Amino acid sequence: MSASREQFGSRLGFILAAAGSAVGIGNLVGFPVAAAKYGGGAFLFIYAIFIVLVCLPVMMAELSVGRSSQKDPLGSYHKLSEGSGLWSIAGWLVLITPYMIAVFYTVITIWLFGYLFEAATGNLAQLADPDNFGTFINSNKVFIYFLAVAALVNLILVGGVKDGIERSAKIMMPALFVMLIGLVIFVLTLDNAFAGLSYYLIPDFSKINAGVVNSALSQAFFSLSLGMGIMITYGSYMSRGETIAGSAKFIALTDTVVAFFAGLLILPAIFSFNPNINTAELSDSSVSLIFTFLPKIFLALQGSIGYVGASAVASVFFMLVFFAAITSLVSITEVPVSSLVGEKGYSRPKALLVLTVTMGLISIACILSFGRVEWLSGFVSYAGESKSLFDVIIDVFYETVLPLNGLLLCLFVSYRWKKHNFHKEMEISDATYQGSLLGRYVDFSLSTFIPVILLLIFVNTVALKYFGVSFIG
Ligand code: PFF
Repeated sequence: MSASREQFGSRLGFILAAAGSAVGIGNLVGFPVAAAKYGGGAFLFIYAIFIVLVCLPVMMAELSVGRSSQKDPLGSYHKLSEGSGLWSIAGWLVLITPYMIAVFYTVITIWLFGYLFEAATGNLAQLADPDNFGTFINSNKVFIYFLAVAALVNLILVGGVKDGIERSAKIMMPALFVMLIGLVIFVLTLDNAFAGLSYYLIPDFSKINAGVVNSALSQAFFSLSLGMGIMITYGSYMSRGETIAGSAKFIALTDTVVAFFAGLLILPAIFSFNPNINTAELSDSSVSLIFTFLPKIFLALQGSIGYVGASAVASVFFMLVFFAAITSLVSITEVPVSSLVGEKGYSRPKALLVLTVTMGLISIACILSFGRVEWLSGFVSYAGESKSLFDVIIDVFYETVLPLNGLLLCLFVSYRWKKHNFHKEMEISDATYQGSLLGRYVDFSLSTFIPVILLLIFVNTVALKYFGVSFIG
C-alpha cells in the first residue's frame, strides 16, 4: 500500500467530485426523456426504488473495494483476490469499459461545447434549423471543439486529485446547481408549463411493463456511474475518516434530486412550446432531444424575451449540460490514468499524454463514423442493423458490459474478497453500521438478488441487441 496515495482534501470535496461524476448527461437528458416515455411519476417511483434497493449497495461495494485496496480497479481486483488470474479478467474489463465509454462521451461533450459556443455567439437561429445537427457533426469545426474539450480535461486532471478534480468540482457543481434551479424557475413561469408538470408528476402505471422496469434499472445504474470503475477509483482517494454508507447515500441523493429537477426543467419547457405534443415523438433519443428539439424551443422564446434573451437561456442550458458532462468525463478518464500511474509507474502527465493520444484517435474515428468514412460508418452489422463505430461502442460498453461489470463486482465482494472484509471496511469511522438493518440488507442483497437481476439484464441485452430476440416487453 502506498503511503503517498493522493486523497481528496475534505468530505465536501469528495462528495462534490463523486456527485460530479454521477450527475451527467444521463441525469439532465436521459432521465427526463425516460420519464416522459414511461409514465411520468410511475417511472420516478420505480427509479427511486432501484436507486435505494439495488444501486446504493453496489456503490457502497465499489467505494469499499477502492478504499480498502488503495488501488485503481485493476490493482484492486488483483490485490483483494490475492493475485487470482481469473479475477484479473474482471479487473481488465473494468479498465477497458471506462476507456471506451470516455470515447463516446467525449464525442457528445464536444457537440455540447460546440452548441454552447454557437448559442453564446449569436447563432441560435442556425442551431434551431432541423438540418443543423447533421451538418454540424460532419463539419471541421468539430475538431477545434475537440481540442478545447481535450485541453480542459487535461488541465483538470494534470492537477491531480485535490488540486485538479476536487477543485474543479467545487467550482462547477455549485454553478451547475444554481443554473439548474434558475432555469427551472424560469421555465415554470412560461405558459402551459403546468401541463408539462402534471404530465411529469402524475403517475401513469399503465405504461409500466417488464421493458420499462429494465430501462429504469439501467438508467439508475448508469446515472450513479456504476460498473465503470469510477467509484472504485474515487473510493481509493477517500479518507478513512469518512463513512462509506453516509457518503454513498449523499451522492445518490444528490444525483437523484438533480435528475428530478432536470425533469422539472425539460418537460414544462416542451409543453410550453407545444401543449399538444405527442410525447412519443420526442422520446426517440436523448441526442435528438438536446441537439434538435430543444434549440427550437429556445428560439421560440424570442417572441417573449427577444433573440438575445433566448440566446442567453440557450447558453445557460448548454453550459449546464456541458459542466455536468465535463465533471463526468474527468471522473471516467481518471480511471485509466490511475491504472497507468499505479500499475505502470507512469507520471500523471505521461499517463495523460498516452491516453489523450490513444483515446483521441478512437474519438476521431467515431467523429468520422457519421458518414464521412464509409467503413467506419457501416462498421458492422448485427440483429439486421448496420452500425457505425460510434453505435458499436455504445452498444457494447454502455449497454452490455456495464451490468456485467456490476454483476462481477457483487460476486467478487461477496464470495472472493469475502463479506467480513467488506464489513470491516464499511465499519471504519461508522460505529452504527455493525449489525444495523442497512448493513444486513447490503450484505444479503449483494450476495443474492442484485447479481441475479444484473445477470438478467445482461442476458436480455445480449439477446436483444445482437440477436434481435426479446425476452421481455
Ligand atoms: N452518471 C453519468 C451520467 O449520468 O451521465 C454516467 C457517466 C457517463 C459518467 C460517462 C462518466 C462518463 F464518462
